[in-house]
Amino acid sequence: MGEAVQTPSGSGLNFDFSSANFAQLRDLVFEHTGISLSDEKKQLAYSRFSKRLRALGLSRFEDYIQLLGESDSDELQDFISAITTNFTSFFRESHHFDFLAQEVAHLGKTNKRIRIWSAGCSSGEEPYSMAVTLLDRVPECRNWDIKILASDLDRKMVETASKGVYSLERLNGVDERIKKTWFMKGRGANQGMVKVKPELSSLIEFRQLNLLHSWPMKGPFDIIFCRNVIIYFDKSVQAQLFKQFARVLKPGGKMVIGHSENLAGVTNDFKLIGRTIYERV
Ligand SMILES: C[S@@+](CC[C@H](N)C(=O)[O-])C[C@H]1O[C@@H](n2cnc3c(N)ncnc32)[C@H](O)[C@@H]1O
Repeated sequence: MGEAVQTPSGSGLNFDFSSANFAQLRDLVFEHTGISLSDEKKQLAYSRFSKRLRALGLSRFEDYIQLLGESDSDELQDFISAITTNFTSFFRESHHFDFLAQEVAHLGKTNKRIRIWSAGCSSGEEPYSMAVTLLDRVPECRNWDIKILASDLDRKMVETASKGVYSLERLNGVDERIKKTWFMKGRGANQGMVKVKPELSSLIEFRQLNLLHSWPMKGPFDIIFCRNVIIYFDKSVQAQLFKQFARVLKPGGKMVIGHSENLAGVTNDFKLIGRTIYERV
């Protein structure tokens, strides 16, 4: 048994959290998300999962682990939500959206059926930023057959994303003209909130999907964004995932990853063509 991790003082109950508890939770996290937790993440795991123990009125990690092991455990989604990092924002890494506008305009010259995937879309800011980019910067694409698939492992995130409702602060830093054109301001009880315009939602299909399980869709996609997702996976899981991405991307299709990610040593199916932008060879 390892030492118990203590909560910061004043935060309520303390739970014993042994190395064996951590190892079991780490295995479950890997099994259900593909996320690899290093030893340094023990405190993080404690802090995220102790909240679940409190919410469920449990006093021991052993009981929590047993609950997760039950075949039809309702807790699994909350367990996944507790450990995934959902940080995102509108037009995050804006150069990727400049690239998207350019690429779609280019593709549309020869093929007006375009398929895009936001893989790991979190609460939806990424696919809506894609939709704004398309309609605002490539307006002719309104008449094309163009669709965005937006998926995430976390069911709660997918539900939030599909509603398309955000607090006004989430749009801080977004151009005023874009805000006025593509978002509706809430009134009365919805004061301080915005909703995306239906033209944006109509381009997007939201779906819950674990990237490490089998994929119901076959593609082929023209462009895939999988940004700030693989950072939590080890190299062998990344290699397996990019084999799959290569399979569903058209030859010459584009793959966009996050600012601190790279595909060196992960795959030979992609060549770097820009800042964290790859082409399927
Ligand atoms: C940090 S967010 C990135 C959101 C967005 N792509 C961006 O860059 O702003 C990472 C997302 O990846 C999702 N994720 C983690 N593991 C996943 C998996 N195995 N399958 C699908 N999505 C996963 C998480 O639920 C989370 O919403």
